[in-house]
Amino acid sequence: MRLKGKSALITGAAQGIGRGFAQAYIREGATVAIADINLEAAEQTAADLGDAAYAVHIDVCNQETIDAGIEAVVTKAGKLDILINNAALFDAAETVDITRESYDKLYAVNVGGTIFTLQAAAKQMIKQGHGGKIINMASQAGRRGESLVLVYCSTKAAVISLTQSAGLNLIKHGINVNAIAPGVVDGEHWKHVDSMFAKLEGKQPGQKKAEVEANVPAGRFATPDDLTGMAIFLASAESDYILSQTYNVDGGQWMS
Ligand SMILES: NC(=O)c1ccc[n+]([C@@H]2O[C@H](COP(=O)([O-])OP(=O)(O)OC[C@H]3O[C@@H](n4cnc5c(N)ncnc54)[C@H](O)[C@@H]3O)[C@@H](O)[C@H]2O)c1
Repeated sequence: MRLKGKSALITGAAQGIGRGFAQAYIREGATVAIADINLEAAEQTAADLGDAAYAVHIDVCNQETIDAGIEAVVTKAGKLDILINNAALFDAAETVDITRESYDKLYAVNVGGTIFTLQAAAKQMIKQGHGGKIINMASQAGRRGESLVLVYCSTKAAVISLTQSAGLNLIKHGINVNAIAPGVVDGEHWKHVDSMFAKLEGKQPGQKKAEVEANVPAGRFATPDDLTGMAIFLASAESDYILSQTYNVDGGQWMS
């Protein structure tokens, strides 16, 4: 067990990749706060994952809920060792059709939510005095723009950049900040992406997903389980000398 006795908080963990990370961390001996804007779904996930999981309501756009969520983790587990900034929203549009509303929402969750949850976790870790691990969820979308995905891609490029700065700034406290850039991961997120592309590009439901899958060098979509090895590594002592990096876990999509 590589995370025995560790206390982790994962945002957006009620479903998808975050849920997969929670399951993997529990297998490795951690206790995990399933933090989500959807408390009911977080409670269901925590119940499914067993005694080492518990639900916490955090809306990453709302500072009061972030602070209360960290407080709840400290009350429940006595400390916070690991944060995964996983919550995010997706949108797609022609450049000329992008709305202020979509821009504000995606930047508030994907960028502001990541910065201010990272900040609150770092304050708690500094208070504890024995370092910590922070993992941000970037994306292959942050490595290269996509024609219909200007806003989301730019938020993920921002996550790659803020990971570099936060990593450089927080290592003096023994806090490692790194990021994971997945490629395409099956789940609710991709159902949503596929239906948006169906509308924007006049495709049949499932067509975009099949086209994308055909271009993945590994030959298939990822499952959340494909990402857990990197998430465990970046939360463990094995990565103590690594900071400010973004690791591609994408079946060979992007090379950097
Ligand atoms: N699925 C993919 O193909 C893919 C690819 C690259 C990167 N990613 C990134 O991985 C992460 C997880 O993706 P996923 O596919 O599991 O997403 P998902 O849409 O399945 O789950 C996101 C979760 O975040 C929660 N959430 C949304 N807004 C929130 C807020 N304001 N505060 C707290 N929680 C909130 C949702 O309720 C949901 O439970 C995201 O950062 C995403 O951008 C996903």
